[in-house]
Amino acid sequence: MKLIKSIYVIAVVGVAFGLASCGASGDNPGYEYAPQMYNSVPYEGLTQIVNEDEGQWLSTREDGKGEFFNTNVNNPSKMNMREPVANTVPRTKDGMLPYRLKAFELEKAAEIQNPVELTDQVLAEGQQLYIQFCTACHGANGEGDGLAGQVIGGVANLKGGAYVNLPEGHIFHVIMKGKGRMGAHGSQIPQERIWKIVHYVKQEIQKQ
Ligand code: HEC
Repeated sequence: MKLIKSIYVIAVVGVAFGLASCGASGDNPGYEYAPQMYNSVPYEGLTQIVNEDEGQWLSTREDGKGEFFNTNVNNPSKMNMREPVANTVPRTKDGMLPYRLKAFELEKAAEIQNPVELTDQVLAEGQQLYIQFCTACHGANGEGDGLAGQVIGGVANLKGGAYVNLPEGHIFHVIMKGKGRMGAHGSQIPQERIWKIVHYVKQEIQKQ
């Protein structure tokens, strides 16, 4: 009987504690279960706790600081992430500005000039990339007769009609963002390489 009674008491106390811990109001955040799940032990880019005493009640740290303090003391700004230099824009890995035009801004894109200098090396790389990414649909000669293209149907013949006169920026944009039934390739091919493909399409396929 005694055992059952103590189980009963423990259960009541447990439920009462459980309910009490749900009560968060005003300055009282309630009890946190496993706080280290919320407050990261390693440095994190997007959180920064500068108060050295935060989490003191839980701390087992040798430096005597609170458990949640996670400011990177080795960085001059004490930030975990460095702040970007004022008046600067981040570049992509290949040194390009981020491409910000939206899929529907095709007309604006048409004005962009090819920033990659045309050399034999660039043409050779462009050809390689064209074979890798475009031949399946557009065919080796760009006539829209690739094996996948035959199944999909409606693939543009890059040598035909008005396609020949497409501005380079237009072709770049279509590869980057896709158009109609052609999917976007922007997430697969870095900008610099797309411009190389554009050179290849213009010089070798369209002979422009
Ligand atoms: C999955 C098949 C497929 C692949 C891969 C593909 N295309 Fe296309 N492409 C199409 C189709 C289909 C169209 C016709 C789009 C439309 O207007 O509906 C098209 C249209 C185009 C156009 C004409 C755009 C316009 O304004 O009408 C260009 C230029 C082009 N593709 C270049 C490329 C290049 C360069 C690559 C390789 C990076 C490539 N495509 C990869 C299927 C593909």
